[in-house]
Amino acid sequence: DDHDHHDGHDDHELRVSKIRSGTVIDHVRGGQALNVLAILGIDGSDGEEVSVGMNVPSDRLARKDIVKVEGRELSQDEVDVLSLIAPDATINIVRDYEVIEKHRVERPGAVEGVLSCPNPGCITTGGEPVVSRFEVLDDGVRCAYCETIVRRGIASLIDT
Ligand code: CTP
Ligand code: ZN
Repeated sequence: DDHDHHDGHDDHELRVSKIRSGTVIDHVRGGQALNVLAILGIDGSDGEEVSVGMNVPSDRLARKDIVKVEGRELSQDEVDVLSLIAPDATINIVRDYEVIEKHRVERPGAVEGVLSCPNPGCITTGGEPVVSRFEVLDDGVRCAYCETIVRRGIASLIDT
């Protein structure tokens, strides 16, 4: 076939099988695949069919992770949060083994209701009916209420 081997490997080295229908989250920063699963709320207990490749060779990134979820498409909220930990990720929608849609994630200006503030004194964590809101910075996120900035470990703020 005429498929380009951009990623510097041949088909005999394909590490993760193709999926029939669902979503492939590709070009995830090496080491972030488990955080991608956390954002999607996948821990295997619901019987989801998921394949994960970690630290596989890639040309765009030195090493990439890849997550393939059978039978599921992602919400915009999920994609927004993914962009915080996997800014170079590509979301591929697959149907009947074909990629029917491909787009890069985009960092949103803010995310609402998906991260919880690590500051125990924040109004969003005190049991008040306040939806969390974080502004997205170049290198992290900032709580819109108490201005706490989180640069590392954003995945641990995910409200599940
Ligand atoms: N893929 C898959 N199952 C399919 C079709 C594609 O798991 N039925 C995966 C491929 O293995 C690849 C990703 O989805 O990791 C994107 O597929 P494709 O667009 O065909 O590959 P590339 O052209 O290499 O993608 P890109 O240019 O985004 O790197
Ligand atoms: Zn806060």
